[in-house]
Amino acid sequence: MVFIKTITLLCLLIAVKGELRRFPDTLSFGVATASYQIEGAWNATDKGENIWDRLTHTTDMIKDRSNGDVACDSYNQHKRDVEMLKQLGVDYYRFSISWSRILPDGFSNRLSQDGIAYYDSLINDLLVANITPFATLYHWDLPQRLQDLGGWSNPMMADYFLDFAEVVFEAFGDRVQNWLTFNEPWVVCLQGYGGVGKAPALNMSGIAEYLCAHNLIKAHAMAYHLYDDVYRPLQGGRIGWTLNSNWHEPANQYPADIEAAERAMQFHLGWFGHPVFSTEGDYPQVMKERIAKRSLEQGYPRSRLPEFTTEEIAYIRGTYDFFGLNHYTTTLVRMPTTISKELSYYDDLGTEGFEDPAWPGSASVWLKVVPWGFRNLLNWIKENYYNPEIIVFENGFSDRDNKDDVDRISYYNQYLNALLDALEDGCNVTAYTAWSLMDNFEWLQGYTERFGLYYVDFNDPRRTRTPKASAFYYKSILESRTIERD
Ligand code: GAL
Repeated sequence: MVFIKTITLLCLLIAVKGELRRFPDTLSFGVATASYQIEGAWNATDKGENIWDRLTHTTDMIKDRSNGDVACDSYNQHKRDVEMLKQLGVDYYRFSISWSRILPDGFSNRLSQDGIAYYDSLINDLLVANITPFATLYHWDLPQRLQDLGGWSNPMMADYFLDFAEVVFEAFGDRVQNWLTFNEPWVVCLQGYGGVGKAPALNMSGIAEYLCAHNLIKAHAMAYHLYDDVYRPLQGGRIGWTLNSNWHEPANQYPADIEAAERAMQFHLGWFGHPVFSTEGDYPQVMKERIAKRSLEQGYPRSRLPEFTTEEIAYIRGTYDFFGLNHYTTTLVRMPTTISKELSYYDDLGTEGFEDPAWPGSASVWLKVVPWGFRNLLNWIKENYYNPEIIVFENGFSDRDNKDDVDRISYYNQYLNALLDALEDGCNVTAYTAWSLMDNFEWLQGYTERFGLYYVDFNDPRRTRTPKASAFYYKSILESRTIERD
């Protein structure tokens, strides 16, 4: 009933306003999920423990004390997931592969045949349904055994990741032609190593996130080269990674605030973007200079930001087939009045970020609805990295417990309009992915924040899925390839 009402309302709105904007035929649409957030079956057969299993089982850091032990039960219900994808009419499905489900010990000496069989079945079902599989190798669930060895702060992790990548390309690359190495390295390193926002919650800011990033960037480049040298000639696919960024908007048009906002962009998107997408490669100059200077002032014998060798810079530069972007929201930035001498990434960055109280909110404190920021960010990428092909791998809105999700519909309407504006500006966006196919385990927020187009009943042992109003809305966009002007 609710859906019929919403659809009628939408039709009415279109009829009244009458103005539809068309997406180019070259733009494809998908939805995304991630292994730990949906699969459950945390200890099925020989699956190994990962860092989210460990964090959820041994700490009280999750808001509702929940975990991903069952999550959406997709390990047992992926056929239902594929049905939902068919109903939506998506061109592709972005999912991630759980490292410890494939390699129970983290190392490639022992493969789980059951783990491989699960992804085989998912991929085969997608292909039968004519949905292109888009697989992420690392969406945050490192095998615990590798974390015990230091995780991403251990330089050997790049080799172990390469071994994992090789197993995955070998097992699925005959059918999967679209790959991402990492999801949001900024979050992995800053929140997992610098802070406590994600597993392994190391909380060593100013040191650990820079080590993590250094090794992870190398791991990405090694996996890219492996694919490029060995698998692309045989399998003919594409590979990249996806970086998250807010748009950082100067709070005022004062030169100091403009400089601060640009610095925030460089520390956020540039930290991982510059080494790979710029022509010079390496970390952004402003990061190298500031962190080196502050490290010396703090009494360290060298910069806390590790250095790449000339060979490494050349090896890492250009390791992409497209620019992957995850984007949700915007921050206002100004220059602080005092300079902090504290040890942390945010003190190295040295800016103040805040939100306009007039921006509409969501269920997540960090997520405000600012569609024009999306347009500005896409243009910043176009200008800074020579107008690359951009694929938006995540964009979405959270609410609490609501199937008639008009606020999510409004978010998608506004952000997709901003995307069309960016296309008119000359940005080269070729695909757009909604986060997420269905409600799922939202990391430290547990099941309290919902991002899905499908509602999942987490109290029902069957984890029943029901389309929300936004699922019908997204489906109608995919069918008509048009959207109402906002
Ligand atoms: C992203 C992340 C997703 C999802 C989303 C919503 O950072 O890649 O896994 O949780 O945020 O918060």
